[in-house]
Amino acid sequence: MSIPNVELNDGHFLPAIGLGTYQIRGGQGIDQVLSAIQDGYRLLDTSTNYNSEGIVGEAIRRSGIPRANFFVTTKLPGRYHHFDDTLMSIQESLCRMGLNYFDLYLIHWPLPKRGLYLEAWKAMIIAQKMGLIRSIGVSNFEPEHLDRLITETGVTPAVNQIEIHPYWVQEKMLLENKKRNIVTEAWSPLGRGNQSLKEKVIIDLANKYKKSPAQIILRWHQLRGIVPIPKSSSLVHQRQNLDTFDFKLTTSEIKSINALNKPTGRINNQDPNEYEEFD
Ligand SMILES: NC(=O)c1ccc[n+]([C@@H]2O[C@H](COP(=O)([O-])OP(=O)(O)OC[C@H]3O[C@@H](n4cnc5c(N)ncnc54)[C@H](OP(=O)(O)O)[C@@H]3O)[C@@H](O)[C@H]2O)c1
Repeated sequence: MSIPNVELNDGHFLPAIGLGTYQIRGGQGIDQVLSAIQDGYRLLDTSTNYNSEGIVGEAIRRSGIPRANFFVTTKLPGRYHHFDDTLMSIQESLCRMGLNYFDLYLIHWPLPKRGLYLEAWKAMIIAQKMGLIRSIGVSNFEPEHLDRLITETGVTPAVNQIEIHPYWVQEKMLLENKKRNIVTEAWSPLGRGNQSLKEKVIIDLANKYKKSPAQIILRWHQLRGIVPIPKSSSLVHQRQNLDTFDFKLTTSEIKSINALNKPTGRINNQDPNEYEEFD
């Protein structure tokens, strides 16, 4: 299956859908990532804090598909925001995955109370110059965090990966990213499999387009200009989640899904200004 690409502000290309790997682990996890690769996934999203970097690297090797065909993303944990720690963490992650560069490296959370994300960003700019990373980006960054990086270094993140699903639609943050020419990726794009998949508006659209509720939600993301990275350990779901490019929702249908937004819609109430990442 051919997956369209999205151009980043640094000239690199990001596949329009990827595989999340949070909670995919161990020997069984290798098989699950491998089945996704065999189905056509090339964007693989992991993180040092997921304990899945090693198995994602192993699945890439076992696939026999050339490294250059993949788009591998991982993320910097909060405990490594100091300059030297960031460089060390990038190199340690590369060794763990058995790779010699990342396509995309993200600061996992800004942790503004610690105030070190700018230091981490400066180290990532150096790592990019060293050839360890192709594109650099952030996750869970608010407009003021983005502006601090841009003003202090002149380098705009290529991607901001944030929580987005039908109960937390993020209209404002999506516009803020667009305004800065930053591509938005959606984490927990299916609301971690929550009740949104059973909402009447989603079910009605699924019946209309002969698609599953998950496919309707993933298409809703893509038509809003967002790259979703759904996690699935099921072969059937993995396949289904890739098969979203052959239909369109109307503008009013997109709005009807946006209307599911709730002011308290975050899955675990993780406010980027407050959240202290596990470390
Ligand atoms: N940057 C960050 O701070 C951050 C935070 C959280 C997550 N992430 C990333 O985002 C990825 C995705 O988020 P997530 O894992 O939290 O949640 P998610 O992708 O929204 O949802 C995963 C859940 O949806 C189910 N599912 C997948 N496809 C389905 C389908 N077609 N029909 C019905 N159910 C389906 C999965 O079950 P099965 O496995 O049984 O299919 C799983 O229970 C993560 O894996 C991780 O890579 C990043």
